[in-house]
Amino acid sequence: MGSAAMPEFSTRAIHVGQEPDPITGAVVPPVTFASTYVMDQVGVPRGGYDYSRSGNPTRDGYQAALASLEEGESALAFPSGLSATDTVLRALVQPGERVLYSQDVYGGTYRMFNQLLPAECRLAHGLDATDTVALANAAGELRPRVVWLETPSNPLLDIIDIESAAAIAHAVGAFLVVDNTFATPALQRPLTLGADVVVHSTTKAIGGHSDLVGGAAVFAPGLELGRPGASETGLVAAEAYWWQNATGAIPSPFDCWLGQRGLKTLDARVRAACANAQIIAEFLETVPQVTRVRYPGLPNDPGHQTAVEQMDGFGAVVSFQVGSAQAAKAICEATKVFLLAVSLGAVESLIEYPAAMTHPQKSGSAAAIPADLVRLAVGLEDSDDLIADLRQAFAAAAK
Ligand SMILES: Cc1ncc(COP(=O)(O)O)c(C=O)c1O
Repeated sequence: MGSAAMPEFSTRAIHVGQEPDPITGAVVPPVTFASTYVMDQVGVPRGGYDYSRSGNPTRDGYQAALASLEEGESALAFPSGLSATDTVLRALVQPGERVLYSQDVYGGTYRMFNQLLPAECRLAHGLDATDTVALANAAGELRPRVVWLETPSNPLLDIIDIESAAAIAHAVGAFLVVDNTFATPALQRPLTLGADVVVHSTTKAIGGHSDLVGGAAVFAPGLELGRPGASETGLVAAEAYWWQNATGAIPSPFDCWLGQRGLKTLDARVRAACANAQIIAEFLETVPQVTRVRYPGLPNDPGHQTAVEQMDGFGAVVSFQVGSAQAAKAICEATKVFLLAVSLGAVESLIEYPAAMTHPQKSGSAAAIPADLVRLAVGLEDSDDLIADLRQAFAAAAK
């Protein structure tokens, strides 16, 4: 419920960090493109800003909105989702320490865990984290510094119990980081379930219109690093900010403005896309060529119950299997309304073949994507048109 202290989600999405311009009254504050700021005395910035890598008013407004929607203390915006992931890992994990991650993660995240971290002598271990007993055993054995989850996961739509994972991570002194890209804060707020840090590819539903590449990290209140770091405060958020500023991992003011504009309609867009996704998942269950539908909104999905408990909706991505790689590719190439393209979370519906398009980094590994899997990113077109398009694609692929 909203209150004077804490208005409802949509109200915060529209107003936090978007105070009308005090001089002109413009309802949408002007974007601050300046890279540098005048000082009246040496080292004393006039309005608190000195250089836009270190801070920018447009970015600050956007970060305030992100923090509010995820119910965190603060947020940092990044030039991509992977850049957010990289900075959070730099802040939390030192050489010799371990990251324990749920195996079904985005291909680029997997590449970071398996190629970039080992090169920096940080160790990553994947497992099926839908099995909380396996997660607890692995955490007890490996003593990771970070447990990293994606839920719903990309592209298999696994649902992982965030509250249990947080208890498991904290019992071994690890941080729990949740990639909340698929759910968005409109459907799931991991910090309220015990997670320590949330990361996003804002390229997806937060941007929402396939015209932004961005990322974000949001931090739980008072989260301490627990060891000496580069920042004097001892807080994880300050440590991550230090790394962001030191490595220059910042988004442009225009991209921050696009992200903030996306947040204003996030709730409405996500809910409409979820309704379409549910209709499509139920349709797919009736298609003879489909051997398995993966969507947490289906009552028979293994993640359904946990999703009901920790989410306010089931998301807009639906994956399905069709028995062969050839059939999967043929369906991807036959749709007309669903565009054959990577990414998700936008107004336009997309179809893709994860084994080759978004997750090739996993091929040949234990985490390899099923060769007959198709992923749909459901958008906001009329559901009748989307179903008709899938129907004709299944028919074309069967020829
Ligand atoms: C779940 C998830 N996390 C992170 C990323 C990486 O985000 P970006 O492409 O913005 O770097 C993606 C990209 O597809 C993703 O799907």
